[in-house]
Order: sequence, then structure tokens, then C-alpha cells
Amino acid sequence: RCMRDCMRGRIVRVRDYSGNGEHYEVHLSALKNFKAKLIRARHVIIVACGTSWHAGLIGKHLIEQMCRIRVEVEYASEFRYSNPVVEKDDVVIAISQSGETADTLAAIQLAKEKGALVFGIVNGVGSSIARETDTGIYIHVGPEIGVASTKAFTGQVTVLAMLALALGNALGTISEEEYQQTCHELTVIPDKINQILEQNDRIKELSAMFADRHNALYLGRGFNYPVALEGALKLKEISYINSFAIAAGELKHGTIALIEPGTLVVTLATQDFLYEKMLSNIQEVKARGAHVLSIAIPGVPTQNSINILQEDGICVSAGSACAKGHRSHTLTAMNLSPEVMDGTFRISLCRDTTETELDMLVEIIKMENCQKKAPLCKGGSAKRWGIDTTPPSKIKDFCHL
Ligand code: F6R
Repeated sequence: RCMRDCMRGRIVRVRDYSGNGEHYEVHLSALKNFKAKLIRARHVIIVACGTSWHAGLIGKHLIEQMCRIRVEVEYASEFRYSNPVVEKDDVVIAISQSGETADTLAAIQLAKEKGALVFGIVNGVGSSIARETDTGIYIHVGPEIGVASTKAFTGQVTVLAMLALALGNALGTISEEEYQQTCHELTVIPDKINQILEQNDRIKELSAMFADRHNALYLGRGFNYPVALEGALKLKEISYINSFAIAAGELKHGTIALIEPGTLVVTLATQDFLYEKMLSNIQEVKARGAHVLSIAIPGVPTQNSINILQEDGICVSAGSACAKGHRSHTLTAMNLSPEVMDGTFRISLCRDTTETELDMLVEIIKMENCQKKAPLCKGGSAKRWGIDTTPPSKIKDFCHL
């Protein structure tokens, strides 16, 4: 609901001039008197703290991609003490849920002294930051009741997306087709969020599996890197579990040393073009015995993807030594019942297991580090197979006998 409230009256469907169809338009009253200054910005500097800073990182991607304007994202608490380079042609965007964060307020005052236009993205109506900025947009997500900012992050990212769309459209840096498509995608996200919330029971089950962990590492790339940072922050604040996030590509540059058997690694794999990259990060951590909780989209048309088989879009893969008789949570999550017979790891597949699903399984079994050499065999009404040195192509052939 918070996202719908945030977009209400701002992404609107308007009748075409011809009268035959409709198109989307983004209406942001904050731009009325400041559009020219915003689109002429030499530089955009986003200042914020905590969750709002994470939203700012996503804003950087959105504005740079859609408007081709260079964006920096600064912690307000660093910016205010760093004698920053801010010029008259710069635009400073201050993001704050409460609108009262002292560091953000101080950063705004500094930016104003240096002559920049200051644009606020705020939830707290009539708050100090709302009053201090030259113009801005309320996110309208309602009050945050708990300590942790949750709805605000969604609202902040939504506003940043609408702002990037409006400016990109004015600048001509996005095509009309991309503008229309992105507006449409934004309007359907609330329904998608509802579908995820319908999986509450499943999510509770998964949380229970990992509730005893003392550490968690979140991995994401692109847009999902700030989301990983935000996930780790929420876990700290709500569960008091030590957690941190890194850009997944940085894993090999040091952090991998911390992965040991049983480390919980949460991976975000929801962007098609980075999917294979995330998959290889998952393999890297699993090879060191990590327990991987992966958030993914069902049905991504990628070969060897782990998520096509996940009916609920959440893949849990907590087993690493299935050939030694341990339970494979990945397979359990897929409703497959692995058994160990005569020291051989076997899975029964339905007759209608598809080619793509077999590809997935081969990948998962490889990731599960099944060590046992096991001949493929067929049993009863189900197809059965064991794994290791048998090349995947042979496994597929056999299974389709
Ligand atoms: C995290 C959280 C904090 C705030 C930060 C900035 O859940 O609540 O990290 O995001 O203190 O607060 P605002 O956005 O009110 O300026």
C-alpha cells in the first residue's frame, strides 16, 4: 500500500491526443519551478544516513542510467565535515524518513551556503528537512512506527525512480518506449509485493531455519548491492545478528576468507544480466561450505539457473555434503526427496521433469559437492539418478530414456 500511496497522482494514465489510447505521465509538482535547474545540474550529490543512504545508492543508478548525470552519494555525517566540493550548478538531494536527522540537516545547510539547489525526499510532513530544502517530494508512506525504517526505503526508491523518469524524459536521455515501460512496471510492483507477502509462512519457515546463526553475509550486484546493504542493516537492527553486505564481485578480494562451513550467506539474484555472475558467487561460497539463502525470481529464462525450480522464488540451499548422507535443503525446498542408498545419493524425479529442470538439477547437485561416483539408474515409476563424474549431458540423456 505504501508504494501505491507514494505513486498516487504522480504516475498517471493520460488519454492520447488521438483519443484512441492512453499513455503514462509522471507528474511531480516539486519540479514545476525547478525543472530547468535540475536538468542543467552539473552534478548531483545525494546526502543521507542509514537506510536513506542505501536508497540514495539506488537513486544514483537510476539517475545515472536514465539522465546521464553524474551522481555521488555521501553519508551526511561525512559530507558535513569534509569541506566538500559543491558548486552553484550542483543539485544536492537530501533523503530522510524523519526529516529530522541532524547530520542530514547540517549537510543541507552546508550545501545551501555553497549555493547549490537542495531537493528533499522526506516522509515527515512539515519536518525540519522539509522546511529547510528549496523544494522536494514527500514519500507519503505514513509514519514509521518501529525503530527500523522499512516502508520508507520503498517510498524513497519509488520517488527516486519517478524523479529519474521525469528528468530523463525532459532531457531526452530515455526513449519514450523505456519511459512508458518503466512507468508501467512501477505501477505493477505493488501487486508483485503482495505476491511476496503471501509467502509469509514460507519466509517464517526459512527464518526459523537460520535463527540460530550469529553471522550473516549479504551479497548483491548492481541495484541489488544497496538492497543487500539494507537487508544486512535490517537483520542487525531487528534480530541483533551480526551481518554485513558486500558487492558480490568483491567477494574474492578478501571477504571470502571469512566463509566457513555453516556461514549464512544471503544472495540476491534477481537481475537477468547479472544472474550468471551471482550463480558463480553462490558456487564460490558453497564450495567453502556456506549455507546459502537465495532470493531469486522464478522462471528467469537462464540455463543452469537455480531458481526456475523454486515455486515461491526463494531457494534455500543449506546442505553441502549430501553424498555423505546429509540432508540437502535445496532439494527439500524443491519438494524432491533425496535418499542415500548404498552410499549413493539418489533423487527420484517425476516423469514430466523438463529438460530445463534437469539442467538446474545438474547444477545444484554440482554445487552440493556430491563426491560419490554413482552410476545412473532407473527405478520404479520414477527416474532415479546418482551423480558425480557422469557428464551432465549423459545424465540428461539417461533421464529422458
Ligand atoms: C534503519 C534506520 C536508520 C535511519 C537513519 C536515517 O532502519 O532507521 O538507519 O535510516 O537514522 O534516518 P532518516 O531517514 O530519518 O534521516
